[in-house]
Amino acid sequence: MSDTKKVALVTGGVGGIGTAICLRLSKEGFKVIACYYPPLASDAEIWVKEHNAAGNDIGIIAGDVTSEADSVRMIKEIESQYGLVEILVNCAGITKDRTFRKLAASDWEAVINTNLNSVFYVTRPVWGGMLDRGFGRIINISSVNGQRGQFGQTNYSAAKAGMHGFTMALAQEGAAKGVTVNTISPGYVETAMTGAMRPEVRDAIIAGVPMKRMGRPEEIAAVVAFLAAAENGYITGANIPVNGGLFMH
Ligand code: CAA
Repeated sequence: MSDTKKVALVTGGVGGIGTAICLRLSKEGFKVIACYYPPLASDAEIWVKEHNAAGNDIGIIAGDVTSEADSVRMIKEIESQYGLVEILVNCAGITKDRTFRKLAASDWEAVINTNLNSVFYVTRPVWGGMLDRGFGRIINISSVNGQRGQFGQTNYSAAKAGMHGFTMALAQEGAAKGVTVNTISPGYVETAMTGAMRPEVRDAIIAGVPMKRMGRPEEIAAVVAFLAAAENGYITGANIPVNGGLFMH
């Protein structure tokens, strides 16, 4: 049955927003593969058992998206085991929040590697096949903080803004070949990532959101499903904000 399904790869697939994306794409009829950071193998095993027991059709694969070699290896394995990747959701991301004065080069590099360089490493091996087949969807999960900047996040804001630059450039290369490339920029969403902020910082941020609440991961996943759909082939190079009104432009 899964042979006839389009394969959708979600990096960061076992994370907060990634999980909602995997569940939604599975519900939409895709064969979903969630890529997880290799040291998290035992958590990923538990995660996939739980979700497949609930009726989903999800596979998992270890992949260090900060490594070009491991990303290439991962795509090869997925394509031989499940089929060609037709939907790629670049959702892997981390934070290392520090005021710039305290930001170490290692904090900068870790965030740029995981959030931005990964987009190159994972997209590159699926791109040629998408162009040749005349169909593909690349969906980059950026952030409101890549659009407006955020105190304590020079590394993260730079990486997330860079993702959309990549989107706009690559969208032009895919446009005449049936491959769309888009960015989604979530605002503050209820996940472990936002849960790690100091409560007073978190409360101050929510107070500044016009909707006065955080987003739910499912609200991001719904937009991913929309962009992934074959019928939505005329949106490309876009940056879709899903931020409760926090930033409008
Ligand atoms: N604008 C201007 N000044 C600010 C400020 C702001 N937004 N926030 C704090 N300051 C000031 C403080 O008033 C303080 O001033 P004084 O030194 O004069 O007293 C100074 O900056 C230092 O502030 P902190 O005490 O907060 O500094 P810190 O080093 O203890 O903490 C930080 C720094 C960890 C980065 C903290 O500010 C923080 O957590 N900021 C929020 C970062 C954030 O939004 N992270 C989002 C994570 S989730 C995510 O990223 C998902 C997504 O895509 C949205």
